[in-house]
Amino acid sequence: MGNLKPALSIIGCGTLGTAFGKLLARAGYRISGIATRSLETAERTAGIIGAKRFSDCPWEISLGADVVFITTPDDAIESTCKVISEHKGFEKNAVVIHCSGALSSEILSSARDCGAVVASLHPLQSFASVDQAETLVRGSFCAIEGDNAALPAVRQLVNDLGGLLMEITAEAKTLYHAAAVVASNYLVALIHLALKLDRAAGIPPDVAFRATLPLIKGTLSSIGAKGIPEALTGPIARGDRATVAAHLKAIKDRVPELLTVYSTLGLYTVDLAKDKGTLTKEMVEELIALLEREETKGL
Ligand SMILES: NC(=O)c1ccc[n+]([C@@H]2O[C@H](COP(=O)([O-])OP(=O)(O)OC[C@H]3O[C@@H](n4cnc5c(N)ncnc54)[C@H](OP(=O)(O)O)[C@@H]3O)[C@@H](O)[C@H]2O)c1
Repeated sequence: MGNLKPALSIIGCGTLGTAFGKLLARAGYRISGIATRSLETAERTAGIIGAKRFSDCPWEISLGADVVFITTPDDAIESTCKVISEHKGFEKNAVVIHCSGALSSEILSSARDCGAVVASLHPLQSFASVDQAETLVRGSFCAIEGDNAALPAVRQLVNDLGGLLMEITAEAKTLYHAAAVVASNYLVALIHLALKLDRAAGIPPDVAFRATLPLIKGTLSSIGAKGIPEALTGPIARGDRATVAAHLKAIKDRVPELLTVYSTLGLYTVDLAKDKGTLTKEMVEELIALLEREETKGL
């Protein structure tokens, strides 16, 4: 690529497309054009990013660009790419990129009909707004995969965004995304579960939330400092069967619908505690027997 930064076009100007456009323009890329569904949004975003051309016809904007970002919602990426290809809207050797975590670069395969190469670049972060995305991309890991010929340009883009590189394969994409869902969305669900138990205990929701947050932050900081499984504490890590049995009984009495999820997570935690090496064989067997007995009763 030499020192001259490639010309970019951005198709789909929501949170990520706008933030990437702003960050990459600042990093010296020439934004050759902006296209999105509504002409009004395209014009507004072009003004924000400093792009001269804007349109509601993506193929008018992709032509002439060295790199084309398709940052529409996931379910419109493949069809947007196809319609551009059908209009011969990709330059030969252009690098066409989408930013979905769940989908691989293969959904862009129609771009190859024009001689373009394809890749995906997924920032492993959740952005609620353009401003937040502009700040958070720096220092976030970005998973990339795609055609070999596309990867040097994609690595350079990650670097210029201030992101950290994580190279994966197209086949790994779905499991990689499942892991992200567990780490982010299931964490929210897990905290919700804790707050439900607090509510059953009679603790007012606002108090429960404020009281639980420092515990979560402390745990995250301990995970950061010690790693897993060393950061695991609590009754399962101690082999305290009486406490686990008391939890199961209280949950069965007051919130039986939570028994299965509590027991399933408990069994997973026994495995972690085994890895930590703090349990005797007898403790492991008794904990598993206790938790397995209750695992299906809440259903
Ligand atoms: N936001 C995040 O936290 C995040 C994080 C990592 C990756 N991503 C990925 O980034 C991509 C974009 O997500 P986002 O959050 O930026 O979405 P978004 O805020 O909903 O923006 C999507 C944009 O695409 C436009 N659009 C919709 N359908 C289109 C079409 N058929 N042709 C052209 N433009 C179209 C929309 O235009 P209108 O406004 O006119 O409807 C909107 O401007 C997705 O692949 C997503 O998985 C997002």
